[in-house]
Amino acid sequence: MQLLHLDSSILGTASVSRSLSSEIVARHQALQPGIRVISRDLAADPALHLSAAHLAAFQGVASEDATINADLVKGNAYMDELIAADILVIGAPMYNFSIPTPLKAWIDRIAVAGKTFRYTATGPEGLLKNKKAFIASSRGSVYTIGSPAAAAEHQESYLIGLLAFLGVIDVTVVRAEGIAFGQEAKEAAVARALENIAAIKA
Ligand SMILES: Cc1cc2nc3c(=O)[nH]c(=O)nc-3n(C[C@H](O)[C@H](O)[C@H](O)COP(=O)(O)O)c2cc1C
Repeated sequence: MQLLHLDSSILGTASVSRSLSSEIVARHQALQPGIRVISRDLAADPALHLSAAHLAAFQGVASEDATINADLVKGNAYMDELIAADILVIGAPMYNFSIPTPLKAWIDRIAVAGKTFRYTATGPEGLLKNKKAFIASSRGSVYTIGSPAAAAEHQESYLIGLLAFLGVIDVTVVRAEGIAFGQEAKEAAVARALENIAAIKA
């Protein structure tokens, strides 16, 4: 059993999504002792933005650029880790209504036709089967359906849509929102999220 743990917050030890994602990992370790955990701190060690040079190298044109070559190695490792994982834990704060760019750069490496999805005569097919995903979501405001800001929500909905496209439909969102509404609201949101994590079953 293997778990891939991604974090993307730039706030280090003050990060809410990091504290939730590490609690989710700890919960899985308690449920399944011996589970192998692979961790990627995407904020500390991001992949590059996609570029023409990267695309050419990815498509097999030999590159002399050591930075591009190192980035290709990193992207291949991202893919191998994802394919090998049974459980995916994604620490995902909302930044400007969406996800942090290093998490998007990770997605740009793993959303690859023929590897994680393919197009068929009847439409796209996700190739990642039998995986569970947990999204540790944190955001300053409130975006739950029915709230005035719901239309600006492109963080959880984006990740859920992407995962479904890749074939991962067993997705649990652990959310702490309203983090910017004061200390009391923040503590209540985090406490609710921790209760939800404690209730995760194998
Ligand atoms: C660069 C940046 C952009 C942000 N953009 C938004 C936003 O669009 N909407 C929102 O509700 N909160 C926003 N926030 C607040 C964060 O979502 C909130 O502080 C959350 O707890 C961040 O997760 P973290 O603690 O894991 O870093 C932003 C914070 C930062 C640092």
